[in-house]
Amino acid sequence: MNILVAGGAGYIGSHTVVELLSRGEQVVIVDNLSNSREHVIDRIERITGKRPGFVKADVRDTGKMNEVFAQYKFDAVIHLAGLKVVGESVEKPIVYYRNNLESTWVLVDLMSKYKVPSIIFSSSATVYGETDQVPINENAEYHCTNPYGNTKMINEIFLKDVVTACPDISAICLRYFNPIGAHESGQIGEDPLDIPNNLMPYITQVAIGKLERLSIFGDDYPTHDGTGVRDYIHVVDLAKGHLAALDYAEQNPDLGFLAVNLGTGKGYSVLDLVHTFSEVCGKSIPYQITARRPGDVATSYADPSKAKELFGWEAEFDLKRMCEDSWRWQKCCDKFI
Ligand code: NAD
Ligand code: UD1
Repeated sequence: MNILVAGGAGYIGSHTVVELLSRGEQVVIVDNLSNSREHVIDRIERITGKRPGFVKADVRDTGKMNEVFAQYKFDAVIHLAGLKVVGESVEKPIVYYRNNLESTWVLVDLMSKYKVPSIIFSSSATVYGETDQVPINENAEYHCTNPYGNTKMINEIFLKDVVTACPDISAICLRYFNPIGAHESGQIGEDPLDIPNNLMPYITQVAIGKLERLSIFGDDYPTHDGTGVRDYIHVVDLAKGHLAALDYAEQNPDLGFLAVNLGTGKGYSVLDLVHTFSEVCGKSIPYQITARRPGDVATSYADPSKAKELFGWEAEFDLKRMCEDSWRWQKCCDKFI
């Protein structure tokens, strides 16, 4: 297959491209490098022995994207080109809405023009927002609590409307839970350009000495140790979920619209993660308990059965392996530049 991976230089995109190339697919990445670096392309080549096509462009640049679609006859689009920082989305809703919505409009418009049959879209468990029903299955209602989440929800609704009007296009929205970990080579991983907002990159930067101590946002949640519980999933498992979704879309051209969770189905607390990481890296992780972070829920983990039933996909790596690979990446990330 010939696949366009929009946002393919980023954290999840780069791992997905590695899996696609390793399976023998042709890949063209379009990325504006707003949250990634060009050396990722070299690293992907080093891991797989194959160099993906790379176009440095904004997905919203209709003229440029028209050229890309005209040049390559794509069989599918994987769309990961989004801005993803919740707090920033509250401060800059216009930027977030423009980037995260317009990118999808442009891609779908060109898919229709060039007859590309399927799109796999990066959605998020954030669309479920506050819910006390766990595990969360795909029938749960939208309860978005911030502009970032709203952009994911609106994209899903938009794609549903598009496939209804254009039966030649199908859309699978993958609702990721909490991706962590990195490729076992230590060459690609999550590479926050700023101080990390998410838990795992914060922990790894404390462990390596870049940051002094972790703040744990609340220890009075109704969970087994009072700290928030999440469904952490290895990014390589997540990447493989995209290939499984692609195969499903190819075999089921009439699928229309689907929203599918990608998670492990297991919940771990902040302290579970801190302790497992500590064992793996052989260091203690200094932390302090601080106030709850506004918008955080106590417990969130997936019902992953739909992905297993439809795609035959399920996550394989456990929490220890996620911590080992995150730690290797943190130790290696500046070495290959
Ligand atoms: P990332 O920032 O590492 O990757 C996104 C990539 O898209 C970056 O390389 C960035 O430069 C690029 N990009 C952004 N806007 C673009 C545009 N207009 N044109 C071209 N390139 C553009 O983020 P990630 O963690 O790999 O996330 C990928 C997708 O998955 C995002 O849509 C994100 O919202 C979604 N998601 C991520 C998580 C997570 O925890 N990482 C969870 C749920 C959903
Ligand atoms: C967050 C976003 C979510 C987004 C996801 C992936 C919020 C409210 N939610 O999810 O929309 O899809 O990232 O980008 O921002 N924690 C600490 N200290 C820290 C960081 C986190 O205690 O320094 C805790 C949080 O309270 C939470 C857990 O760790 O209980 C996981 O947090 P995080 O990695 O930020 O992911 P989510 O909040 O689940």
